[in-house]
Amino acid sequence: MKKIIVLISGSGSNLQSIIDNINSKNIKGEIVEVISNENGAFGLTRAKNANINTFVLDHRLYKTRDMYDKALLKRLSSLNPDLIIMAGFMRILTPIIPNYFKGKILNIHPSLLPLYPGLDTHQKAINNKDKCHGVSVHYVSPVLDGGPLIAQGRIVINNDEVSTLIKRIHKVEHLIYPLVIKYICDEKIYFDIALNKIIYKDIDVKDDIIKKDYEI
Ligand code: GRF
Repeated sequence: MKKIIVLISGSGSNLQSIIDNINSKNIKGEIVEVISNENGAFGLTRAKNANINTFVLDHRLYKTRDMYDKALLKRLSSLNPDLIIMAGFMRILTPIIPNYFKGKILNIHPSLLPLYPGLDTHQKAINNKDKCHGVSVHYVSPVLDGGPLIAQGRIVINNDEVSTLIKRIHKVEHLIYPLVIKYICDEKIYFDIALNKIIYKDIDVKDDIIKKDYEI
């Protein structure tokens, strides 16, 4: 059983989808702690409702990003996780954490990376009149939203506004993130550090990543 830590800052709907998939035994893993930088994050309530340990590490109490990340690294490493899942953790990490946990940290980002790293991805897709939008799941590297891509879920943009795109993208996230986490817990996906690449076992990949189209 993989030991998982989930990092959040807000609502935690992705956290909830992971909890649900663990409870239904789809994901063979255990969340040992949910860590938030925001005391008021609703995701903390979701964790408590699921009897999961929570820990708040408020970034406002640290003078520099380095000092915060050192404290976070201390907490993370004390729990000895197999997998760290960023699920709406709204902090830019300094290299110390991705380097220490290389191949063990995941992030989900609401765009078809390398398109639109950073914020306001839905608005950017609409402004650029993109035909498609989507989500990317990737290993975390020191480059913001730039680590090796594991999977992408794509939807067609209809007459969407930002609010409808956000809702549709969330639905895709709640399917594709648990799927990737399940594969990692089943050891069907892992990052081979010596080869510096992602290994997929018995999984359909296209252009070296899992690609899925969703009608949502
Ligand atoms: C998601 O859209 C995720 O892609 C982004 O932050 C959002 C978190 O949403 N990184 P939630 O807190 O899981 O509901």
